[in-house]
Amino acid sequence: MTRWTDKDRIFMKEALRLARRGWGLVSPNPMVGAVLVKRGKIVSSGWHTGPGLPHAEIEALTAAGKKARGADLYVNLEPCRHTGRTGPCTDAIIAAGVERVFYSLPDPNPLAAGGAKALEDAGVETLRGLLAQEAYELNQFFVKWQLTRKPFVILKTAASLDGKIATRAGDSRWITSKVARNYGHHLRSGVDAILIGRATASKDDPELSARPWGRRKMHRQPMRCVLDPSLKLPLSLKLFDPSCGGPTTVFCAPDAPEAAAAARAAADARVIRIPYARRGLLSLESALTALGGLEVQSVLIEPGATLAASALIDETVADLIHIFMAPMFLGGHDAPGILGGEGVSALSEARQAEFLRISRKGPDLHMVIRPQGAFEPPAGFLLPDDLEPAAAAPPQEPED
Ligand SMILES: NC(=O)c1ccc[n+]([C@@H]2O[C@H](COP(=O)([O-])OP(=O)(O)OC[C@H]3O[C@@H](n4cnc5c(N)ncnc54)[C@H](OP(=O)(O)O)[C@@H]3O)[C@@H](O)[C@H]2O)c1
Repeated sequence: MTRWTDKDRIFMKEALRLARRGWGLVSPNPMVGAVLVKRGKIVSSGWHTGPGLPHAEIEALTAAGKKARGADLYVNLEPCRHTGRTGPCTDAIIAAGVERVFYSLPDPNPLAAGGAKALEDAGVETLRGLLAQEAYELNQFFVKWQLTRKPFVILKTAASLDGKIATRAGDSRWITSKVARNYGHHLRSGVDAILIGRATASKDDPELSARPWGRRKMHRQPMRCVLDPSLKLPLSLKLFDPSCGGPTTVFCAPDAPEAAAAARAAADARVIRIPYARRGLLSLESALTALGGLEVQSVLIEPGATLAASALIDETVADLIHIFMAPMFLGGHDAPGILGGEGVSALSEARQAEFLRISRKGPDLHMVIRPQGAFEPPAGFLLPDDLEPAAAAPPQEPED
């Protein structure tokens, strides 16, 4: 038996729906929505629209005015009690006379946490855990980074039904449909950085910009990152053209030529030297630690077969995988598959994974997968009570 009513779920679902609008707009802040309810009816709502702008609770309280007195507030993250770019939400909630606060997740940010206690101390009843699993999936980038200072890593790849990411001649544009590729742009628009390998940069010359469909806005382009151990990539690539996308970061080996590093710095690219993990391959763990230090909370890896094998088999850095499969067969021993590298020799060494969601994107199959070893919040962050059955709405789906 759960302690939540159907109406509680409906109101928190509405808060989560509003929060989701912040995809691509709010990082490094979390996506938050808030709904004020009185006598079983929504009196106002709000969502966080960007860093430095009012928090969702303040938007809802402002819209409600005097009607907030005696109301219940539904919000997907514990209200903050600290003064950052905006004032503490707890003070505003107490001053408005809100009676009860339902919140899904505790705030993992040590600076902002303690909001529930401040509310309780002022006589406002707080109830934690409603739709916590769904709220966690929505803000897992924020949660992981706050708790570990490392970015959440998504790996995205497009393949034929026989698992090939390019033909034997290297032709890979485009395997999947426009609908699937639009979803790829949606993913790009919500992350802080995109990472590719040197060979993909050189063969495909991608812009690495986010160009999501329709009316969706973005507050900035994601950082563009490439692993180029010896700094061989020419500066004429679109990746180095500031007019094409976000800032560029190149990861190179400790002994990469100094003159090449200086040339990249002169072209406004950041150069970060990191150690090798194995012969010829840079340490992804080191690259991600460096990105975490730059407040990058999420990284989308768009790998060729070599980088995919590094991220999934050799170093196991991926937290979530999106695979799009087109209804076509490419065949060919020499056509690259999703994963290259050496591979494992025994089935017992396989990296296990779990399907979270399988759906269609136009004619293509879209699989969302959690690999073994993916980030999980520490014990106690989600209470056993919080783990309701699978959320109906997928996390981070666009509304349109
Ligand atoms: N269908 C898709 O979704 C998709 C997506 C991306 C790419 N692709 C295709 O994949 C092909 C390229 O793939 P690829 O396997 O040849 O190369 P890749 O994974 O794009 O790049 C591999 C290169 O990156 C550098 N690198 C440094 N550290 C690394 C690490 N830890 N792990 C992996 N790479 C590291 C190395 O450069 P050095 O050689 O300089 O040492 C390595 O050879 C292209 O044909 C591209 O079109 C397809």
